[in-house]
Amino acid sequence: AIDISKLRSQSSYVTLDEGYGNTASCESAITYIDGEKGVLRYRGYPIEELAENSRFIEVAYLLLNGELPNSRQLLEFSTNLNESSIIHEDMHHFFNGFPRGSHPMGILATMVASLSTFYPLPDRLDSATEMQVVINLVSQVRTIAAFSYKKSIGEPLIYPSYKLKYVRNFLNMMFSSPVRDYQLDDDIVRAIDMFLILHADHEQNCSTSSVRTAGSSMANVYAVASAGISSLWGPRHGGANQQVIQMLEQIHAAGGDGTEFINQAKDKNSTSRLMGFGHRVYKNFDPRAMVLKKQCDKLFSKMGVSDPLFDIAKKLEEIALSDDYFISRKLYPNVDFYSGLILRAAGIPTNMFTVLFAIGRMPGWLAHWREMLHGEQVVITRPRQIYVGEPLRHYQNIEQRP
Ligand code: ACO
Repeated sequence: AIDISKLRSQSSYVTLDEGYGNTASCESAITYIDGEKGVLRYRGYPIEELAENSRFIEVAYLLLNGELPNSRQLLEFSTNLNESSIIHEDMHHFFNGFPRGSHPMGILATMVASLSTFYPLPDRLDSATEMQVVINLVSQVRTIAAFSYKKSIGEPLIYPSYKLKYVRNFLNMMFSSPVRDYQLDDDIVRAIDMFLILHADHEQNCSTSSVRTAGSSMANVYAVASAGISSLWGPRHGGANQQVIQMLEQIHAAGGDGTEFINQAKDKNSTSRLMGFGHRVYKNFDPRAMVLKKQCDKLFSKMGVSDPLFDIAKKLEEIALSDDYFISRKLYPNVDFYSGLILRAAGIPTNMFTVLFAIGRMPGWLAHWREMLHGEQVVITRPRQIYVGEPLRHYQNIEQRP
């Protein structure tokens, strides 16, 4: 057997794998993906079964604890989430300091990091504190998300309610006001719940790898979660859901069926890509996109509404999937392609889409953080590089420089 620690100490053994396409950074028992067959399982359970039958907090419990909860465990977990949903009153001043129009992901990353100052943690966490901090984060991220939206539209904050469950509580904080009751629609609640389930974990993606990397230095867990949020923000990762809707809106406004956009996305001189298409791991189909497309169909027909952007999305998929450029590169719709349409139907503003993704992903990030902490060997993440810079040269005084 190869002794990895010996290899690590011999600096001549360095492999180059840009973007870590073929390098496993850890062993993990949380999520299984078979990208060729379009398989995704959380703790062994197929994503399709979880999306159909479970609720987000049940899935959060599963990811964090390894098993689905029984009724008593679920009730305890749900009650704990509710009781942990308030954020320190003094944090409210921070919301006032952000410029109007700030992107909610910037606010979310900042506010989650600032939890470390309001809720200081000892250097070593005992297991009860560790689990409580995790529950606080899963709950508080939702409160912070809703508060940042309220601030961005200049409305008073709506506090979490003890009576409402996770998703209902979030929607209520987002959309009700002291002068307006928000009518919670069961179909919308269910669709958002399913959205969160589908986003809850996805093994070593960019943001989860950031969480593990930041966590490997034993940084404060609030800062670690904030690192995950920052990585998620980018348009090649979680930010794609916002970009998909902007792309569909552009196509709609231009009045075409998307052919022109597809041609642009294929053009190597252009920087544009077909947003919501392609995935590092899925080379056949993304099972989350399949579930979401069906959910869109169901939701729109149940609500009796039609969204022209959904029609454009389906048309784009049809054109792309019969185009050799996309076929040869194995580019299929990913989770972000249809997810934005569900959020749009729920009235979630486009700049909040990635925030919703972050709420969903929080249990996954924290499950990975805990798995890493309790692993057999906690090593700091420290990839090597291949140096391609200047060879040795000597300092010149400024007068001697060309
Ligand atoms: N539109 C057009 N061309 C694409 C697209 C796309 N969406 N995605 C990949 N390609 C092309 C690339 O230009 C490249 O072509 P080439 O071989 O001729 O140079 C080839 O397909 C391979 O692409 P890479 O970028 O090398 O693939 P990688 O695995 O590194 O990237 C990624 C995956 C980032 C998701 C990419 O497909 C992409 O940018 N998609 C659009 C953004 C998006 O939807 N992101 C969400 C991902 S899912 C998630 O994070 C939740």
